[in-house]
Amino acid sequence: MTRIRTPIAEELGLEVPLFAFSKAPAVVAAVSRAGGMGVLGAVAYTVDQLREALDFIDAHVDGKPYGVDVVMPAKYVDGGAGHDAPLDPGKLEAMISPRHRAFIEDLLARHEVPALPEGENAWHNLLAWTEQTTRPQVELALSRPIKLLANALGPPPKDIVDKAHAKGVKVAALTGAPAHAKKHIENGVDIIVAQGTEAGGHCGEISTRVLVPEIVDAVGPDVPVLAAGGIGCGRQVAAAMALGAQGAWTGSVWLTCAESDLHPLVVNKLLAAGSRDTVRSRALTGKPARQLKTPWSQAWDDPAGPGALPMPLQFMLTADATSRIHRFAGQPGNRAEELLTSPVGQIVGRMNQVRPVAEIMSELVRELEDSIRRMTAATR
Ligand SMILES: Cc1cc2nc3c(=O)[nH]c(=O)nc-3n(C[C@H](O)[C@H](O)[C@H](O)COP(=O)(O)O)c2cc1C
Repeated sequence: MTRIRTPIAEELGLEVPLFAFSKAPAVVAAVSRAGGMGVLGAVAYTVDQLREALDFIDAHVDGKPYGVDVVMPAKYVDGGAGHDAPLDPGKLEAMISPRHRAFIEDLLARHEVPALPEGENAWHNLLAWTEQTTRPQVELALSRPIKLLANALGPPPKDIVDKAHAKGVKVAALTGAPAHAKKHIENGVDIIVAQGTEAGGHCGEISTRVLVPEIVDAVGPDVPVLAAGGIGCGRQVAAAMALGAQGAWTGSVWLTCAESDLHPLVVNKLLAAGSRDTVRSRALTGKPARQLKTPWSQAWDDPAGPGALPMPLQFMLTADATSRIHRFAGQPGNRAEELLTSPVGQIVGRMNQVRPVAEIMSELVRELEDSIRRMTAATR
């Protein structure tokens, strides 16, 4: 494979400056084997499940560099405990109004989604989304041969940055605004992921093409910036590098690859969706996140409704409902499938077939090379 050299790719030992965020261990291992860096999203894992996922990656990554991503928000509801005192889930549950609970039951009833059968448990409703619940994930991740620790929301706490650095692990942080990027650097973060509004998941309002040069200029030439949001082909990676980024951080494009572990009906929805079928909504986590436009997001965005709750309460409120929707979607006698959703970016319009990671990577690199060659030729 051709080597695409940027300072951060060299430093991390990558063949190509392409980072792939995914919750699927098989995707992470495959992208790293293919010369990029797979980054495992830990948010939806219990510590035991995360241990299993990391065992899988360590067994299948052929010693190639990979990373772990956590969601440790700077701002969230902690029930008055403070960010460094134990959380009281009961106190948080009490902050969820009966109106919100009734609203969800009504939404499920209108789509004939049954309750979970006796003995079946809903997904854990407070896995991450707070510093207290994410710290054990970080401890575990730092006990593995990771090369990168990334945080989704805000500057990671200084002690965690120091712990990672003590293990020779680079720290990255996502941001949608230049001011936040500077704060990250002050907190010891090494790599800035400039995430534009096109991105799947939590995102700001500024587009990637506008945001990346602003952040590159704000943090200076010595800080590696990765562009994120709306990148799913080689030309878009080339564009990111032309904007001053040292590489691309991608997420959505891996949701429909062969190694993805997403619900098959969600995959079908993504394959059928166009770039106008996403919306930035608080419906999933309480913070603005780009996702498929569905009756779920429309219900939560409806001004007549109670509105989404702040993080982590929205996930606590909806975890049971989401489990039921996933459990019954596609079965006769209900319309749960309509409520099935996923965070996804505007790049979804390009995700039209299921292909293995290796094929997506080699096509991406080929097109990136062509773009670089074409632009270089333009100067001759
Ligand atoms: C399904 C999904 C879940 C995501 N969850 C997280 C997360 O837990 N942590 C995080 O840092 N970013 C998360 N992201 C954002 C990605 O890391 C990445 O920045 C984004 O997908 C890039 O834009 P793109 O979707 O246009 O490729 C998520 C993205 C998607 C699509």
